[in-house]
Amino acid sequence: MTMTPERWEFLSRYAVDVFGDEDPHLAGLMDRAEAAGLPRIAVSADVGRLLLILAAMTPGRIALELGTLAGYSAIWIARGLAPDGKLYTVEAAPAHADFAESEIARAGVADRVEVIRGEALGVLPDLADQLGPGRVDFAFLDAVKSEYVDYFEAVKPMIAGGGLLVADNVYASGHAWIDEGYGTDEFNRRVAADRDFDAVATPMREGVLIARKRG
Ligand SMILES: C[S@@+](CC[C@H](N)C(=O)[O-])C[C@H]1O[C@@H](n2cnc3c(N)ncnc32)[C@H](O)[C@@H]1O
Repeated sequence: MTMTPERWEFLSRYAVDVFGDEDPHLAGLMDRAEAAGLPRIAVSADVGRLLLILAAMTPGRIALELGTLAGYSAIWIARGLAPDGKLYTVEAAPAHADFAESEIARAGVADRVEVIRGEALGVLPDLADQLGPGRVDFAFLDAVKSEYVDYFEAVKPMIAGGGLLVADNVYASGHAWIDEGYGTDEFNRRVAADRDFDAVATPMREGVLIARKRG
């Protein structure tokens, strides 16, 4: 029984086929995004469902996402929140933020999602002040991979005891894998070694880290 590149490709497609059922709005979202000039770099549908499940396993009152793109993952996360829950999603590119806002409205979750415009490391201090410490039930990191360590340090005090930190691309990012020098190794080890968290990474797609804050 050997894991070949062909088998890996097959399993990635299989996971989307079996576990990635989408409604018509989500199924067409990234086609519309691509037609509008946005890059096709959203999470896959099976990872989207993972985000929904994980968010729904928390109290789901406050969620945070870094890297909105077209709003695809934001809509999955929003659907996992409590009815009065709120997702703050941070996006640096104005065109991406505009597009995401219209798709979030079309998905019927605009009341649960606020798109914050700006660079993640620039807006996080104000957001941390606004929300107060230990209030975020679910945080998803998916902006600049080389900034993950800084995101972790900024977001860590914002996460509630029992809250989840999830990060995409912790084994690879499009062009390179971690054994080829791709750079989230320091982030992975930092979270894994942090005594405030229990962390693991699943090899879904390009690697999804899941960490639960103790407490
Ligand atoms: C991989 S995409 C996010 C995909 C999205 N989470 C999804 O799965 O649907 C990364 C996004 O981060 C945005 N971005 C880049 N630098 C950023 C920064 N410093 N702060 C916040 N967002 C940034 C990019 O414009 C891009 O839209």
